[in-house]
Amino acid sequence: MKEINNQAEDLTVWLNTSAIVDLGPIIAGVQVFGPETRQAFQRDLLAWYDQEKRDLPWRENQDPYRVWVSEIMLQQTQVDTVINYFNNFMKVFPTIADLAQATEADLLKVWQGLGYYSRVRNMQAAARDIMANHEGVFPTEIKAIKALKGIGPYTAGAIASIAFNQAVPAIDGNAMRVLARLFAIDADIAVAKNRKIFEEIGSYLIDYNRPGDFNQAIMDLGSSYCSYKNPQPELSPIRAYNLSTLNGTTLAYPVKSKQKKARDVYYQALLIENQQGQILMIKRSDGQLLKNMWSVPLLESRRDQVTDYQYVVAETSANYQVSPIVMKEPLAEIKHIFTHLKWHIRPFYMRLRPEEEALLAKQLDKAYGNSWCWLAASDMDQLPVARVQEKIWQVYRDFKKQ
Ligand code: ADE
Repeated sequence: MKEINNQAEDLTVWLNTSAIVDLGPIIAGVQVFGPETRQAFQRDLLAWYDQEKRDLPWRENQDPYRVWVSEIMLQQTQVDTVINYFNNFMKVFPTIADLAQATEADLLKVWQGLGYYSRVRNMQAAARDIMANHEGVFPTEIKAIKALKGIGPYTAGAIASIAFNQAVPAIDGNAMRVLARLFAIDADIAVAKNRKIFEEIGSYLIDYNRPGDFNQAIMDLGSSYCSYKNPQPELSPIRAYNLSTLNGTTLAYPVKSKQKKARDVYYQALLIENQQGQILMIKRSDGQLLKNMWSVPLLESRRDQVTDYQYVVAETSANYQVSPIVMKEPLAEIKHIFTHLKWHIRPFYMRLRPEEEALLAKQLDKAYGNSWCWLAASDMDQLPVARVQEKIWQVYRDFKKQ
């Protein structure tokens, strides 16, 4: 027997006592409402969207380049944060050709603070692909769109529907939450293969006349009445179609098994200051997280060593062959989360003795070639640095102000 994914809340109970007036097929194990209800659902959802849709810069037109950039930014970042980044990105790289030609430093600079830097690197690879193989024009075929680097099924669906009016769903975590609540689907959304269930349902529900608006209306619901933590299902424009609302089980959906906890990593950050009041920065290497971004030296340590002054002194002199004057206490504790890692950083302030400056420079040349420099706090905007570095530098600036 085929698995039923929404048997917990029986849709037939609500036939004719809600906005649900007909039963539809069972799609991927989910009993859905029928075509008549679907039509009313689309009408109500889109009427709400027309009234209430958020005024966002990438919604000004259907330019696929703009849609693409916005969707990549929005993958891991809140709308409010994305707006300024998006506008700046369009100013710096107004066309696909500009993006294809950008230097890596410029790329990292426009992305600075957004995190997940592989997103912008992949975008540039895709832009180069478009220049080389699509005559500089964004491809319209969903298969060709999916073949571009960094574009998965969600982003391909979003671009095809929003920019090219194709009736394909755009299923990300937010859309899965909206649909899981709509039909009380108990499939685990943390299981990758279950995305298929939601794609099939999205394909069934989508409005063929306005697919891009339909998908964006689902997105807007997902960040308002159907948000993860504070939903307001009773006020939602689709409340009368929504099984979990009708049954009062909103928060039971979506079902999502626990992700593995991020691994803790401990670092001592070396704030090595020279005679000019500049701080040592090193460019991270290819195999590392945040590659090619600049960082103060980070010393990985055990948890019980991370506040240890003796340890930082010993390791600094072992690694750099110098003995700076080190403050006994770390300036702060900084925490920063990446997807699978949680960094705990203790910055130690240290002053280089004048006679050691040339010695250290020689060591660094040998170890890092061009990939190190002295940087004044006021020049920080000249190098690509990750958000976690900004936190470290803020601690340093606060310390110097005292
Ligand atoms: N989240 C992802 N894509 C979006 C879009 N196009 N508009 C608003 N929020 C989104």
